[in-house]
Amino acid sequence: MTRTVLITGASSGIGKALAVHYARERARLALLGRDQSRLAMVADECRNLGASVEIHTLDVRNRAEMSAWVREFDEKTPVDLVIANAGLMAGTPPGGEIEPADAGYAVVETNVLGVLNTIQPLLPAMLSRRKGQIAIISSIAAFIPLPDSPSYCASKSAVLYYGQSLRALLAPHGIGVSVVCPGYVSTSMAAQESSRKPFMMSSEKAAALIVAGLRRNRAVIAFPFFFAFATKLHGLLPDGIRRRLSSGYRFTVEN
Ligand SMILES: NC(=O)c1ccc[n+]([C@@H]2O[C@H](COP(=O)([O-])OP(=O)(O)OC[C@H]3O[C@@H](n4cnc5c(N)ncnc54)[C@H](OP(=O)(O)O)[C@@H]3O)[C@@H](O)[C@H]2O)c1
Repeated sequence: MTRTVLITGASSGIGKALAVHYARERARLALLGRDQSRLAMVADECRNLGASVEIHTLDVRNRAEMSAWVREFDEKTPVDLVIANAGLMAGTPPGGEIEPADAGYAVVETNVLGVLNTIQPLLPAMLSRRKGQIAIISSIAAFIPLPDSPSYCASKSAVLYYGQSLRALLAPHGIGVSVVCPGYVSTSMAAQESSRKPFMMSSEKAAALIVAGLRRNRAVIAFPFFFAFATKLHGLLPDGIRRRLSSGYRFTVEN
């Protein structure tokens, strides 16, 4: 059966790799991003793989436009799977002391409100159909407060809890919700950041792990397994010990 998959942030990185993966399954794709030309190139690649594709250039922070477009698309083509992937990162700039305020606000607006703007408009329709699947791209940064990326860590833990709450609420209605917590993935976002990047993987490998987790309707899809486990443990340590252990782990971000 042909599935309809809506992906935000599909113009590059993990979102693009997910679009290409579902295109190979000949899904019907709705791809959102802000960069029209990169989005059009991804759409062409997906069409060449056999998918039917609609693209839309939209900023996920625009609640009214997101709501209107997502509802309109879903009315003509009911969405089976929505992947709220669009995201930004910010952090301490080279030579600076704290992330720039505007960058921090943009991160929270995009990574938190953008996720709500993507998912909320679909909930009434999914509830009435009693089916659907929701994936939210968080990060292992949700498990650990990093001094150089406060807004990013806050945004990713916010959507982790948002997704887990929704999962409990929506499961009795036949709707699956998964939160995805990747480690380092080789994309333009990862390239912005100066840190060591242990266990970094390609966006294609990340997409394959995400798709496998979604197939099993996993609550939290965190990878690579060992890095995610160690990060969770680290985040649970008492404040003084955690800060001492992570004092060498500082980085800068090109905001
Ligand atoms: N790379 C990593 O190591 C890593 C690790 C954990 C989690 N993640 C998460 O994975 C997701 C994808 O990131 P990525 O690594 O693939 O980075 P990326 O290559 O920079 O892709 C980010 C995508 O988000 C879109 N986007 C950003 N702001 C947007 C906005 N306001 N409205 C609409 N689209 C917007 C971008 O589209 P335009 O350029 O067209 O605006 C782009 O398609 C993010 O949520 C990120 O936090 C990444």
